[in-house]
Amino acid sequence: MTDYEALRDNRGNNDRSIAKDNGSGGLHVADNRQTRPAPSVSRAFLVGEAMVGGYGKGPSILNGCTIAAEKGEIAVIVGPNGAGKSTAMKAVFGMLDLRQGSVRLNGEDITRLTPQARVAKGMAFVPQVRNIFPSMSVEENLEMGAFLRRDDISRTIEQVYGLFTILRDKRRQPAGELSGGQRQQVAVGRALMTQPSVLMLDEPTAGVSPIVMDELFDRIIEIARQGITILMVEQNARQALEIADKGYVLVQGGNAFTGTGKELLADPQVRKSFLGG
Ligand SMILES: Nc1ncnc2c1ncn2[C@@H]1O[C@H](COP(=O)(O)OP(=O)(O)OP(=O)(O)O)[C@@H](O)[C@H]1O
Ligand SMILES: [Mg+2]
Repeated sequence: MTDYEALRDNRGNNDRSIAKDNGSGGLHVADNRQTRPAPSVSRAFLVGEAMVGGYGKGPSILNGCTIAAEKGEIAVIVGPNGAGKSTAMKAVFGMLDLRQGSVRLNGEDITRLTPQARVAKGMAFVPQVRNIFPSMSVEENLEMGAFLRRDDISRTIEQVYGLFTILRDKRRQPAGELSGGQRQQVAVGRALMTQPSVLMLDEPTAGVSPIVMDELFDRIIEIARQGITILMVEQNARQALEIADKGYVLVQGGNAFTGTGKELLADPQVRKSFLGG
């Protein structure tokens, strides 16, 4: 079984993250939608467009949301608990069948492709939970990330160590023994081993200190500068929007607000409802 198959079997049942109160309690979605229309995205590098979907035969969790990002851009999804952020990520990665809508990568419709096939197309996903193999060493985790490759992976491993220097020192240590921030570095590094063009991160800074968060965001910016598209869900909404080229506020599986990170940070309604004023 590949690690992506293992991830698929998880299907998000364990998606409960840590400190999750962002005070967005009484928001009225439908009445307050941002005037800005859903983004014109049909030609964007990565697009999940008008996505509708849910789990099994259950109700739709995604109610037509659209997420898009260009090459080398950082797109950030924020929103209250249970809004469907992780579900949207799973849909874009092919871990959830869409009832309506589509996912396109570089102009190609990939809506029906399996996650493995999307990895082969250049997508990489770091899920919110269980994103490393704790009993394996750091380096074994990186090697697992390269499972699809038949070529020499040593240069990519060096690149990951160049990005996350502490991992080089810890490369023989079981990943489960590392700090929370270092484990997230392993997870991101493992995803980079397929040399993706799209890196998807579901709450990469969950449970880490503000300093570690800042460091991780700096590395994410560095990755984007190499031309890799970043699609990221973040609970640290304000900090994440500061580095976002595009920001999406999801509420009840729909686009409540869309704009550049700066626009969303400046929007009084977004500030009041999602950023604590
Ligand atoms: N595997 C699953 N099976 C059934 N329902 C699920 C599953 N995973 C999530 N859900 C439901 O889908 C809805 C959206 O969950 P999702 O995890 O996408 O939200 P989220 O925005 O990522 O929340 P959080 O901020 O807590 O991570 C919730 O009502 C949740 O209970
Ligand atoms: Mg989530």
